[in-house]
Amino acid sequence: MKTDKHDAIILSSTDEKDANQQFVADLKDTPIPDDELLANLGLYLSSKNLSRILFFNEIYKKILHNHGIMVEFGVRWGQTLAILSALRGIFEPFNRHRKIVGFDTFDGFKGMGDIDGDKSGCSDGSYSVVPGYEEYLNGILGIHEQLNPMSHIQRYELIKGDATKSVSEYLAKHPETIISLAIFDFDIYKPTKAALQAIKPHLCKGSVLVFDELCDDYFPGETIALNEVFGLNNVRIQRYPMAARISYMVVE
Ligand SMILES: C[S@@+](CC[C@H](N)C(=O)[O-])C[C@H]1O[C@@H](n2cnc3c(N)ncnc32)[C@H](O)[C@@H]1O
Repeated sequence: MKTDKHDAIILSSTDEKDANQQFVADLKDTPIPDDELLANLGLYLSSKNLSRILFFNEIYKKILHNHGIMVEFGVRWGQTLAILSALRGIFEPFNRHRKIVGFDTFDGFKGMGDIDGDKSGCSDGSYSVVPGYEEYLNGILGIHEQLNPMSHIQRYELIKGDATKSVSEYLAKHPETIISLAIFDFDIYKPTKAALQAIKPHLCKGSVLVFDELCDDYFPGETIALNEVFGLNNVRIQRYPMAARISYMVVE
């Protein structure tokens, strides 16, 4: 149910876990030479992991004609930011306004409360990463930009800190911000509500909000926060069949 380290939830069956472990062992012990490894990572990509990438491909296409930056609330190891960077390189490599900004404590959950229930068994500090991980991720995102045009203009930023403060502080420093895409993946109520409230004045018609835990009984706080800030009756929550848990809404 939980990972051995960092206290993250895995709902896979034992068979799935075994198969995934085998993939990890095979990847660590790959016979593929270094100069061919990255071009062959698809070997180890399961349908579940591929589905998330396909989902973000569809979402990216939805914002292509909207102006504004992309933000992720809850970055963790940063894969989604890397995917967004790669998609930007494919779809609009010269859009210098399409900044990518990620918010995280890089220390795990902060602000979990009774409203989040106890089904997840998580607490503050769950979903942590290793110390100093944000520097590693900064480097990775830098390489993504190097591989695409306009790499002399940095178009990503990681904001470390408690999002109950850091999101409004960022937007106070950047009052020009328009948000075309916001991805919510804090899992818990308090920072989700604070981020929703902070970004609301920076959304336009057509802005897309993505949610990882709506209608999820392990993490009820995300839905409660959305209900309190936008009202569930006022929004159309949609999904793509290829990705089970992620949903999105378009500001109308
Ligand atoms: C489920 S993980 C995010 C996973 C990531 N989006 C992905 O696709 O792999 C949730 C993240 O929210 C972050 N988080 C939780 N509470 C926070 C808070 N108050 N401020 C900033 N980050 C927070 C945690 O540190 C954790 O990295």
